[in-house]
Parts: sequence; C-alpha cells; structure tokens
Amino acid sequence: MRRLLLLALILVATVGVLAGCNSKGTKTTAPETVEGAAPEQPATTEIEMPEGDAAAGKDLFGSSGCGGCHTLADAGASGAVGPNLDDLKPTAAAVYDIVTNGRNAMPAFSGQLDEQQIADVAAYVVQATSG
Ligand code: HEC
Repeated sequence: MRRLLLLALILVATVGVLAGCNSKGTKTTAPETVEGAAPEQPATTEIEMPEGDAAAGKDLFGSSGCGGCHTLADAGASGAVGPNLDDLKPTAAAVYDIVTNGRNAMPAFSGQLDEQQIADVAAYVVQATSG
C-alpha cells in the first residue's frame, strides 16, 4: 500500500515536470502590452531610494554618531552642532540626500553606510519626528 502511494506520487511529479517543460516549450514570446497611462509618481519622490526600515535606522542613528551633532528626543540625542531634528522634521528624501552627500559641516556618510542603511536612517528620523 505504501509502495503504491509512493509510485503514484512519483508519477504525479513526473507528469508535472513534463507538463511544465511542455508549456514552456510552446510558450509564445509576444511582448506584454500595457494599456493605459503609467502610474503617476508621487510628487514627493524626488530621489530614488530603497524602502527604509525605521527600527534598523534607530540603531544606525546611534552607531553613526548622528546624535553627537543633532538633537533627536526619540534617540536620546542632544547634539547642537547641526539643526535640531525634532524641530526641523525633515522629509525622508532630505535626510537621505544630506546623509549621502553631506553639506557644509555635515559629513557625507556614503563611505560608511550603504544606500539601504541611509534609507533606514531616513525612515527612522521621519518616524521619530512625525507626531
Ligand atoms: C559632525 C556633525 C554632524 C554629524 C555627525 C551629523 N550631522 Fe547632520 N548636520 C550637521 C550640520 C552642521 C548640518 C547643517 C548643514 C547645513 O545645511 O549647513 C546638518 C544637517 C542635517 C540635516 C538637515 C537637512 C536639511 O534638509 O536641512 C539632517 C536631516 C541631518 N543633518 C541628519 C543627520 C543624520 C541622520 C546623521 C547621522 C547619519 C547626521 N546628520 C550626522 C552636522 C552633523
């Protein structure tokens, strides 16, 4: 009885694989047509950046030393070299841009954090300062 079941299973699997090959072989390669206008980009997306993870960003905010220069209550940071982030409430794009490229006395972190990490920090700063 067990054997029969096993045989049946193997058979089903084999047929499945064969059918898969077959359908692949006969698949037509006509390009997909997309109808209608492309979805509109939200106006706030000025720069391309990965989706940020605020929880990971909180750790990075601490380990990168952002708090040495910035005040951010959520992070227990009270630096006063750069603007107070609680007051500034920057957008994710603004954080991403300045952390990547730096500006004046604010150092660039692109050599230290990758794009995903910078997006994480941006998501965290937005989360910590909104509401
Ligand atoms: C050495 C001090 C220093 C460190 C470290 C630092 N910043 Fe800054 N930051 C500054 C200064 C100074 C400015 C103001 C730059 C200017 O506009 O002249 C600034 C500006 C900013 C702004 C304002 C951007 C805007 O749109 O005006 C944000 C957001 C910011 N920093 C986030 C961060 C984050 C996040 C980190 C950690 C990854 C960080 N900073 C680390 C000094 C620092």
